[in-house]
Amino acid sequence: MSAQFPVARPRRLRRTPALRRLVAETRLAPAELVLPMFVKEGITEPHPISSMPGVVQHTRDSLRKAAHEAVEAGVGGIILFGIPAVKDGDGSAADDPAGIVQLALRDLTADLGDAAVIMTDLCLDEYTDHGHCGVLTAAGEIDNDATLERYASIAIAQASAGSAVLGPSGMMDGQVAAIRSALDGAGYQDIAIMSYSAKYASAYYGPFREAAECAPQFGDRATHQQDPANADESLREVFLDLAEGADMVMVKPAGAYLDIVRRVRDEVDVPVVAYQVSGEYAMIEAAARNGWVDRDRTMMESLLSIRRAGANLVLTYYATEAARRLARGAH
Ligand code: PBG
Repeated sequence: MSAQFPVARPRRLRRTPALRRLVAETRLAPAELVLPMFVKEGITEPHPISSMPGVVQHTRDSLRKAAHEAVEAGVGGIILFGIPAVKDGDGSAADDPAGIVQLALRDLTADLGDAAVIMTDLCLDEYTDHGHCGVLTAAGEIDNDATLERYASIAIAQASAGSAVLGPSGMMDGQVAAIRSALDGAGYQDIAIMSYSAKYASAYYGPFREAAECAPQFGDRATHQQDPANADESLREVFLDLAEGADMVMVKPAGAYLDIVRRVRDEVDVPVVAYQVSGEYAMIEAAARNGWVDRDRTMMESLLSIRRAGANLVLTYYATEAARRLARGAH
C-alpha cells in the first residue's frame, strides 16, 4: 500500500553503506585516540596482564616497539604509566629522574619526536607501597596538601624528561593549581595539563590495579574519587580545574558515564577527554571470548558512542587496533 501523502521515511538515508557513511553525524579518527601504556622496571620480557588480554606491562624495549606501532597506525597520543621495581611510603620512584617513567619518556621522545603526543599519568598509587594516590598521615589517611607537594615534584620530573601533557589522576583538591605553579616556576609554561577532573570511585578500574600493581592495601579511594551517584559535582570539579589552569578535562570511566561526558561537553570550551578504562576493555574481551558479542563491532561501537556523547579525545586500550581499522576504512 502506498501512502496518499508524503510520509517521512528516515530509512531512505539508511539504505546503503555509502548513504549511511555520507550522513553519519559522528566519525572516529585515529588522531583522537590515545593509547595508555604500562612500562615496568626490571623485567626482561613483556608481562601479560591476565584481566586485560592483549595488554602487557612493557619492558623499555617492548614499549618502544609498541609505541612505534601505535604511531604508525596514526594514534594521536600515548599516555605512560610506570611500575617501579621498589615501592615505598612516599612513592619516591615517581619523581626520581632515573625512575622508570622518566627513562621511558626519554626513549619515546627521542624515538618519536612530534609524531604523537607523549603524555604521562601523574599520580602516586603506582609508586607507593600502600597503593594509595597520596602520602598518608600517621592515622593512615591521605594527606591532601602534603600530596600536592609530591605531585609538584613529579610534575617537574616528568616535564624535564619530555612529557608534553601531564595527567593528574589522584583527585586531590588543588592538584591542578599546585602542578601549574610548579611547572611555571621551573620554566615549563608550555607543558599542558589534562586533568582527570570528573573521576569516579569506580569498580571498572579493577583490571588496572593488576596492570599497575596498585590495589590499595587497605581502605579504598572513595574519599577522593567521586560518588557514582553524583552528576552536578562533576561540573564543580571541572570548573575548579579550569580555574586552576587545566588545558583539557577528563571524564572517567567513559561508557557508564556518557551523561557526564555530554554535560561537560555542553559546559566547557576546552577539549573534553574520556577514558575507556580497564574494566570496560576487560568486559568486552571477556564477552567476546565467550562468543557472546562480536568483539570488533563492540569495540568500535563503544568508541563511537563515547565520541557521540561529546568526547573530543578517547583514551582506550584499543587505540592502535581501532586506528588500524579506521585507516582501512572499516568501522
Ligand atoms: C590512578 C589511575 C587509575 C587509573 C588511571 N589512573 C586507577 C585508580 O584510580 O584506581 C585507572 C585506569 C583504568 O582502569 O584503565 N593513577
